[in-house]
Amino acid sequence: MRTIAIINAKGGCGKTTIATSLAAALAWEGHSVALADMDPQQSTNDWLKHRPDSYPALLGVAAESGARPAAETDTLIIDTPAGLAGNELEQIIKRAQTVLVPVMPSPVDMRAAWRFLSHLQEIRAVRSGDTVVGLVANRVRPQTIIYRQLTGFLEGFRVPVVGQLRDSMNYVRAFEKGLAVADLPPYLAFHDWEEWETVLAWIRSKKSQGKGASPSSLLSAAMQRLTGG
Ligand SMILES: Nc1ncnc2c1ncn2[C@@H]1O[C@H](COP(=O)(O)OP(=O)(O)O)[C@@H](O)[C@H]1O
Ligand SMILES: [Mg+2]
Repeated sequence: MRTIAIINAKGGCGKTTIATSLAAALAWEGHSVALADMDPQQSTNDWLKHRPDSYPALLGVAAESGARPAAETDTLIIDTPAGLAGNELEQIIKRAQTVLVPVMPSPVDMRAAWRFLSHLQEIRAVRSGDTVVGLVANRVRPQTIIYRQLTGFLEGFRVPVVGQLRDSMNYVRAFEKGLAVADLPPYLAFHDWEEWETVLAWIRSKKSQGKGASPSSLLSAAMQRLTGG
């Protein structure tokens, strides 16, 4: 099973928004996606409860089950609380092949991200390449000075920037209804879809899957290449 964790010690940077958006986008691609909400605030689980039946279904993961998703799940997305550190952080990193770290273009967020990324790079699974970390610039307004500073800042890391998402009310409005930008019609969200396509391309690529990727997923990737599928 592919496991993708959305992590940043800082609150409010877009973890829940990205976890739910990614889950919906992958469900539209036909994946059987489960969402595990580790945050006591339970925003992702609340969102799931509001999700209308007429959109691609997502499975929840009951906390009592020890965060074990249903057997049919092929992709598990883990939303995490702010302040995640120590052993708890390491356990989640170890469990995931891929970690997405949302970073917002604000001085406070950039400083916090600097500390958090330095810390992440010391974790054994990240150092060994078993878990791959990618940054997502979130709530981007490209014409701003702070955005230029963010891009310069992000390039200072050995961690790839795998996409950027604009600041858009689409995220806010969709979320209220249990939806994500992937569920919105193209005339509203075409630009957001395009931005997500960049993130999804990285998620699909082998380089985001780490050495911890299960043999079956590597095998199916190899099969797809051989058969041109
Ligand atoms: N790209 C975006 N455009 C507009 N609003 C956003 C975007 N990403 C997040 N937000 C808003 O920012 C707030 C915090 O986002 P959230 O995903 O809850 O962060 P976290 O889970 O890291 O605390 C929410 O109100 C959310 O709707
Ligand atoms: Mg959250």
